[in-house]
Amino acid sequence: MNVDYSEKIPNNVNLSDDRRLKRALEAWLPNYLDWWQEMGPAEYQDKEVYLRTAISVDAKGWANFGYVKMPEYRWGIFLADKDEERQVNFGDHKGDAAWQEVPGEYRGVLRRLIVTQGDTEPASVEQQRHLCETAPSLYDMRNLFQVNVEEGRHLWAMVYLLQGYFGRDGREEAEALLERRSGDEDKPRILGAFNEETPDWLSFYMFTYFTDRDGKYQLASLAESGFDPLARTCRFMLTEEAHHMFVGETGVGRIIQRTCELMNEFGPDNVRANGGIDLPTLQRYVNFHFSVSQDLFGSELSTNAANYYTMGLKGRYDETKIDDDHNLKNDAYPVLQLKQNSFIHVDQPALTSVNERLRDDYAEDCARGVRRWNQIIKRAGIDFQITLPHRAFHRAIGDFSEIDVDPWGNIHNRADWEHHQHDWLPTDEDHAFVHSLMAKPVLEPGKYANYIAPPARGINNQSVDFEYVRL
Ligand SMILES: [Fe+2]
Ligand SMILES: [Fe+2]
Repeated sequence: MNVDYSEKIPNNVNLSDDRRLKRALEAWLPNYLDWWQEMGPAEYQDKEVYLRTAISVDAKGWANFGYVKMPEYRWGIFLADKDEERQVNFGDHKGDAAWQEVPGEYRGVLRRLIVTQGDTEPASVEQQRHLCETAPSLYDMRNLFQVNVEEGRHLWAMVYLLQGYFGRDGREEAEALLERRSGDEDKPRILGAFNEETPDWLSFYMFTYFTDRDGKYQLASLAESGFDPLARTCRFMLTEEAHHMFVGETGVGRIIQRTCELMNEFGPDNVRANGGIDLPTLQRYVNFHFSVSQDLFGSELSTNAANYYTMGLKGRYDETKIDDDHNLKNDAYPVLQLKQNSFIHVDQPALTSVNERLRDDYAEDCARGVRRWNQIIKRAGIDFQITLPHRAFHRAIGDFSEIDVDPWGNIHNRADWEHHQHDWLPTDEDHAFVHSLMAKPVLEPGKYANYIAPPARGINNQSVDFEYVRL
C-alpha cells in the first residue's frame, strides 16, 4: 500500500515537510485503523454516513459535510492559528514568550497531561461501541458516529503532540494509547469514568452532556497552556467538542419532551406503560452522571494542580479573562467543605484550589442546560423540575468521598444511605427498563423511537427525515 499520508491526512502542520513526524504517523496509522475496526462502532462500518470532516481551521473548512464510510474518514491534524506574540499567561513564567518546544524540566509532567487527556478520547469510542445496534433513528446514529470519529481525531491530535514533540517515549505512549481498553481489568483506561459502560442511549446523551463537558473544561484549561502547540491543538478540539455536548443536551431534551407528551396524553403515572422514560428515572440518571463526572476534576485541594499552574502548563478556564495576578500565590478561593455537619465555603489557597474552581465553572455550565430542560417541562404545563444533585452526593474522589450525602445535601449514615440509594441513583430495574425500550434500532429515515421526540431541525440544514446513514 503506497499512500501519500500528507495528502491523506488533512493537516495544517506542514506534514509533507516533516519527514520524521510523517514516518512516525505512518507507523502508527495502521495500528490506529486496527484499533478502530476492533473497538470502534460494532456495525455499519461499510455504510456511508453523512459526516462532518475538518479540512482546515477556518470558518468554512472545519465543517465539511458529505457521505463517508467511517474507516475512510480523513482524521486530520489541526492546530488553531498561531499567535506569534503569544506569551505564557500565568504561573512562574508569566510574561515569557510561549514555548514552541517542550521545556526540558517539565517534559515528564507535560507528557503525562497529554497522555491522560489523549486516553479519554479512544476510551469513549470503546464505551459507545455497541450503541449503533440500538439507535433511535438514523439521525441519532449519525450523531453517534460523528462523535466517535471526532474522538478518534482527538486521539490523533494528542498523538501528533506525542510524536511531534516527545521523541521516542512519545512514540511509545502513542502505541500504549491503542493498547489500553475501557473496562479491561489488566489494561484499563486511565480515568475511572472512562471504564464504565455506556449501556444505552439515555446514558449516551447523559455522557455527552455531562462527561464531554468535563472534556470541554479540561481542554479549555489546557488551551491556556504555555506550551503553544498543546494550547493550539486544544483550542481547535473545543470547536468539535461543542457538537458533542449539543448531542447530549438535545438528546436528553428530546426524551424529556416525549415524556411530557406521554404524560399529557396518558396521565402522569403512565409514561412507562406507554413506552416513555418517566421524569424521576431521568432525574436518577442526572444524579449518576453529574456525580461521576465531577470526580473527573480530582481533589478539591491538589498540589499537582497547583504545580501544573505554577509551571504554566495548565491554566484556569478563561485564564486571560480573569482579573487577578495569574500567579495566585497570595490569593484565596472559597472551597465547599464539611464543617461540624454543615457545608460551608472556606477560604483556601487559590493555587491549590484550581481543580475546585474548574469544577465550579463546570457545575455552573451544567446548570444552564438543566434550566433549558426544565423549560421544556414547564411549556408542557407539567409541575416538575430536574435538579443537579448536591456537590457532595455520590462522590468517589475528594473530601466528600468519605461521607454519605443525599441529592439535597443531607448527611446520612451508611446503612441509611444504602437503604435509600435506589431513589437517587438508577437501579438495575431502571437500567433493564431503559434497555427494554432500546431493543432494536430504528432504521427508516424520518422515523424515531417512541421514547424520544424528533429533533427540531436536522444536521447542516438537512431535514429530520434525511438519509443520514445509507443502509
Ligand atoms: Fe474529545
Ligand atoms: Fe467529545
